[in-house]
Amino acid sequence: MSETGPLMEIRDLARSFGGGRTIFGTKKPQLTAVRGVSLDLTKGETLGIVGESGCGKSTLARMLVGLDRPTRGAIRLDGEDLSASGTQALARRVQYVFQDPVSSLNPRQTIRAILEAPMRHLLGLGKDQRKARLETLIEDVNLRPEFLDRYPHEFSGGQAQRIGIARALAAEPDVVVLDEPVSALDVSVQAQVLNLLDRLKRDRGLTYVFISHDLAVVESVATRVAVMYFGEIVETAPARDLFRAPLHPYTDLLIRSAPVPNRKRQATSGDSGELPDPYDPPPGCPFAPRCPRAEADCREAMPPLEPRDRGGAHRAACFHPLAD
Ligand SMILES: Nc1ncnc2c1ncn2[C@@H]1O[C@H](COP(=O)(O)OP(=O)(O)OP(=O)(O)O)[C@@H](O)[C@H]1O
Ligand code: SF4
Ligand SMILES: [Mg+2]
Repeated sequence: MSETGPLMEIRDLARSFGGGRTIFGTKKPQLTAVRGVSLDLTKGETLGIVGESGCGKSTLARMLVGLDRPTRGAIRLDGEDLSASGTQALARRVQYVFQDPVSSLNPRQTIRAILEAPMRHLLGLGKDQRKARLETLIEDVNLRPEFLDRYPHEFSGGQAQRIGIARALAAEPDVVVLDEPVSALDVSVQAQVLNLLDRLKRDRGLTYVFISHDLAVVESVATRVAVMYFGEIVETAPARDLFRAPLHPYTDLLIRSAPVPNRKRQATSGDSGELPDPYDPPPGCPFAPRCPRAEADCREAMPPLEPRDRGGAHRAACFHPLAD
């Protein structure tokens, strides 16, 4: 790979559920949760992914870590197509942190067994090597080594999420996909976990994909943001540009309706919240039924995600973006 090339290339990634036929020969309905997502991830960045519930964030995340197989598309790391090489190859380099820390840990296993599994299965480390790494790892996430012989139910939500983060790091990944990692935690604990994630990222040279419906959290952690709507990326930009000058009417709606610090929450009157039927989406822009800027052309063709600035970093999929 070239020094300046992207660490991860996501190309036209799609995932459908259902489809096919029942044993009686009738067609089963098909829903497309992710519809052709393309993104580049640069080493060291934190890419925030935002969007309303059901827009496909977790489905995308699960494909990135090999927990789910794409219906179409490719995931390349350092130029190598890992989606074709199977889940093990992806799991070695890309790890997942779940939203619900306690239920994501096996209640029957000690923390030691939970953290040793990736070291053994993904890195092939022997007993002595695992022992040394375990102690460093648990201290790295600000937990005491004696916790290793306890079980998940003995921990608070914040502690359990530190263990979830340690488990992700045990495989020594390059990329960590964090799916709503602090949403289940109290606000005071959220800040501690976010600080820990920031330190670990710097110390270990990690790259994050940070998924959240909470725009204030994303604004505080992300270097770049991708906005998802109805299974597609509709806008992507450096975080500061996206929050200061959104181009897509959906991003604008999200920002105006979110309680973001230093910015007044504004009324978003007239938003119907209406989504197209996922089993039978109409042609054109899926945001059209809710969009105050919609015109006839919006209902005919799908707007492509195109660069809107000179450097090409700010991209939006809209025929009539806000800056026009
Ligand atoms: N295994 C599955 N089988 C059928 N449909 C699914 C499956 N997983 C997800 N979906 C559907 O795909 C769409 C996207 O779901 P997904 O969980 O990716 O959304 P999300 O953006 O993560 O939402 P949330 O913010 O609520 O976590 C939804 O319509 C969901 O019902
Ligand atoms: S393409 Fe049209 S309907 Fe879609 S967001 Fe842009 S202006 Fe609105
Ligand atoms: Mg989700």
